Amino acid sequence: MDLEAVKRKISELSESLHHYNYMYYVKSESIVSDFEFDMLLKELEELESKFPELIDSNSPSKRVGGTVVKHFETVKHRFPMLSLSNSYSKEEIIEWEARIKKTIEHDIEYVCELKYDGVAIGIRYLNGVFHSAVTRGDGSQGELVSSNVKTIKSVPLTLQGEVPSDFEIRGEIFLPLQEFERLNKERAKENLALYANPRNTASGTLKLQDSKVVSKRNLDCYLYGMYEERSSYTSHYQAVLGAGKMGFKVPLPEQRKIEKVKDVEGILAFIDFWDYERKKLPFEIDGIVIKVNAYNQQEELGYTAKSPRWAIAFKFKAERVETKIESVSYQVGRTGAVTPVANLKPVYLGGTTVKRASLHNAEQIEKLGLHENDSVYVEKGGEIIPKIVGVNIAKRIINAQKVVFIGVCPACNERLIREEGEAQHYCKNTTSCPPQLKGKIEHFISRKAMDIDGLGAETIDTLVEKGLIKDISDLYVLEFNQLIDLDRMADKSVNNLLDGITASKLQPFEKVLFGLGIRYVGETVSKKLAKAFKTMDCIVEASYESLVETDEIGEKIARSIREFIEDEKNIILIEKLKHAGLRFEKEEEVRASSILESQTVVISGTFERYSRNEMKQLIEENGGKNGSSISKKTSLLVAGANMGPSKLKKATDLGVEIIDEADFLKKIKHD
Ligand code: IVH
Repeated sequence: MDLEAVKRKISELSESLHHYNYMYYVKSESIVSDFEFDMLLKELEELESKFPELIDSNSPSKRVGGTVVKHFETVKHRFPMLSLSNSYSKEEIIEWEARIKKTIEHDIEYVCELKYDGVAIGIRYLNGVFHSAVTRGDGSQGELVSSNVKTIKSVPLTLQGEVPSDFEIRGEIFLPLQEFERLNKERAKENLALYANPRNTASGTLKLQDSKVVSKRNLDCYLYGMYEERSSYTSHYQAVLGAGKMGFKVPLPEQRKIEKVKDVEGILAFIDFWDYERKKLPFEIDGIVIKVNAYNQQEELGYTAKSPRWAIAFKFKAERVETKIESVSYQVGRTGAVTPVANLKPVYLGGTTVKRASLHNAEQIEKLGLHENDSVYVEKGGEIIPKIVGVNIAKRIINAQKVVFIGVCPACNERLIREEGEAQHYCKNTTSCPPQLKGKIEHFISRKAMDIDGLGAETIDTLVEKGLIKDISDLYVLEFNQLIDLDRMADKSVNNLLDGITASKLQPFEKVLFGLGIRYVGETVSKKLAKAFKTMDCIVEASYESLVETDEIGEKIARSIREFIEDEKNIILIEKLKHAGLRFEKEEEVRASSILESQTVVISGTFERYSRNEMKQLIEENGGKNGSSISKKTSLLVAGANMGPSKLKKATDLGVEIIDEADFLKKIKHD
């Protein structure tokens, strides 16, 4: 065979194998025998081994794995991978739907789906072929696990029909129950520890270094969302069904795994149906997801910092077990908050063994009426840490003593304080209480703050215990000789750490501010403060009143900032960090113009030339402020397509200037 003929043969074989795979793993139809399939695959593999230069990275032979990855590369998500807000009762769903109706008055449709209990994945396709697959990670960046995902037979390597040239599809990778049981049977035979539950096993499998092993685990994947710069669809439902046509495994309406409904009754009926039927599914689900269908309505509803307002998860009732409390211990966090923790007689719950449960605060202990050695009910809700939800008083031991909250810090003996209106007790020894200091350092070096790598929790413990770090500024005076003597530190790791510390001096002001760990001053608030006050000196001098006047700074945050600043120790700390060379001033922003200076602009609906986020950026770049709703303060309303009628009416009533996208772009000289 000449090279051209081999190429043709490889392409023919690949096409057939891709198709048989699709029919079997996505459509559940077997159109060739296993033997025939294996013969074709073997033929392809033989050709590929003779002509390695002709191997396509998306060949069906990649399904059996072979790539061994030492370390997964970290990749930034093009679209942040958000999570869903959870609800545990029908009342919460009713409230959510009522909230939606306040913004979207007409023509609402909801899409109800299953909440697959697995691991989230984002897969990018370029020109109809598999390009890369990335795990959720922390939501803004994840791990590149392409070779492992390619072994999942229901994930297409090449797409069918009309497809967008560049898009990402997201879904959930899971381990079918049958596979989970098969795997554990094999492990039992070999006397190996059993896997706890399908979800953790799927997550562990996806991070295996050898894709051959992954291939044998038979993971599966349902897709639930399309992401593109400019969407080819106008609604979620359309996109999911469209993805099905491209060859993806998507939920089918005829199996009621996805359903379009018009009102809350429809949502509740879907929940009831699956609360019962889920037990018959060949994979685990932990709830139902409800999404507003139309993309323009989704945009209108927008997002909170962590999740979209246009979607919600309904979680099925958590499993509940009874066990005994063996003791109560107390943990001190970085802010000095003291949390009581119940140490339990180990009990199996929802796939894992539970040994500890948070008791939250003194009030919770009081509310439960907890006595020593009580028998308690433990539940695993949406949170990873299980909760104690009640006491079985019938089993209480005679003369059992009430659990009394401690009076002094378990770490440094400082008297604990519980302020008016606060549920939590605090240790106010902020500077020398070891767990607080350790927590502060961990926060300061974290990725969203100073982003210093190479300093694990144990090394921090040692540095604090040896007195080498007494506050976060001491990080900047650490020397090679002090670090090299520590456990697990070699020349290279010490140098990397020192380089990381030096590099962190270039972190922008808002990250430094966030890193200081002022209570209630999270990432978003830090950005707002940096933007409004420009320098740390101005924040230090800012009165409570001027703080409260700042965008998104409420009374609680303002009080906390003032409290931080009024503590002289913190001022000394800031001076030391300044001396070390950290940035305490905001860099000047690039400004296109000041055309919108002192104007509050509200955008509504969708736009042709720019996404809503781009429009918001344009407003800021031209000196304007983005407003979220129409009020007396609004100077200008930019009306896009499908704008809500209530917004329009309100703007007209208040006499707000209304312009369309084209005029707006003209106004800022951006056309
Ligand atoms: S939509 C912006 N749909 O649940 C929200 N998520 O906290 C995007 N999940 O990590 C998620 N089934 O992996 C969506 N039908 C479904 C889902 C689903 C499971 C997972 C998802 C995410 C978590 C949400």
